Amino acid sequence: MRLSLLLALALTALVEAHSVLVYPGTRGNNLITNDTFPYGMQWMYPCGGLGTSRNRTYWPTTGGAVSFQPGWFRGHLQAQLQINLGYGTDGPDGGPPNMSNIMLKPFMLLGPSNNPYPGTVCLPQVPLPAGAIVKAGDMATIQVVELAQHGAALYSCVDIVFAEPGDPRIPIVNETNCFNSTQFGFAQIYTVTTTNPVLDVVASTTSSAISLLRNGWAGWLPLAIGAIGLAIW
Ligand SMILES: *[C@@H]1O[C@H](CO)[C@@H](O)[C@H](O)[C@H]1NC(C)=O
Ligand SMILES: *[C@@H]1O[C@H](CO)[C@@H](O)[C@H](O)[C@H]1NC(C)=O
Ligand SMILES: *[C@@H]1O[C@H](CO)[C@@H](O)[C@H](O)[C@H]1NC(C)=O
Ligand SMILES: *[C@@H]1O[C@H](CO)[C@@H](O)[C@H](O)[C@H]1NC(C)=O
Ligand SMILES: *[C@@H]1O[C@H](CO)[C@@H](O)[C@H](O)[C@H]1NC(C)=O
Repeated sequence: MRLSLLLALALTALVEAHSVLVYPGTRGNNLITNDTFPYGMQWMYPCGGLGTSRNRTYWPTTGGAVSFQPGWFRGHLQAQLQINLGYGTDGPDGGPPNMSNIMLKPFMLLGPSNNPYPGTVCLPQVPLPAGAIVKAGDMATIQVVELAQHGAALYSCVDIVFAEPGDPRIPIVNETNCFNSTQFGFAQIYTVTTTNPVLDVVASTTSSAISLLRNGWAGWLPLAIGAIGLAIW
């Protein structure tokens, strides 16, 4: 009963084509841009404005399929995609405390056009983050990040319960819900270093700089170092 419900939901998502995440499920439709909730919040970190699902879906302890529809907005002729995992329920709204555990490093999706386009991408075996130790029954949240070429990021999540591979509660993966539409191309992303960081500047700052960093001031690194430099002088 629950399985057929999940399958029905997965297929509904596919047919109605309103959801960015097709498999293993979704927190819901966060693409609405008019006055109705969640009014454009798909751009809001970490999960596009939607709270944690009470109806979690089952997903294998060995990693598994993630399928999504990336083309619901303009500006995705190219898009950078990344998949992360958040562990547990100790964070806000019974979700994970953070989404900092990388499952798939960024890769490039090459779309057919800069206008909205249909089509599905499926990655049949997304691995767990490096060093992950999970067991059946553990809860987690999968986050798909889609960075458009103009810099806006679109967030979409599904809340899961881990289950042993082959558990009948895991929604079936087949060609109906897991396929790549032919209009997509893929590309790897790499960088070329043009200037190396001066590492001993960081190493020579005091532990207060480190605690600033730990408290989420990473974006203010140059400022923090500057301030400490001033304090020392
Ligand atoms: C959970 O329920 C919401 C609201 O009915 C629905 O939109 C969503 O697709 C469901 N998620 C899963 C994983 O079944
Ligand atoms: C906004 O769009 C949604 C989905 O298309 C629709 O259900 C809702 O009625 C719309 N709300 C307004 C205020 O137009
Ligand atoms: C993210 O949360 C995990 C617990 O789920 C914790 O161990 C880890 O330190 C956190 N990472 C960051 C960068 O806050
Ligand atoms: C995939 O599984 C669903 C649910 O069992 C089923 O309705 C659908 O026909 C299957 N598709 C294929 C191609 O086997
Ligand atoms: C879709 O394409 C990606 C990138 O080439 C590939 O990793 C994945 O296996 C493909 N999915 C399917 C269902 O073949």
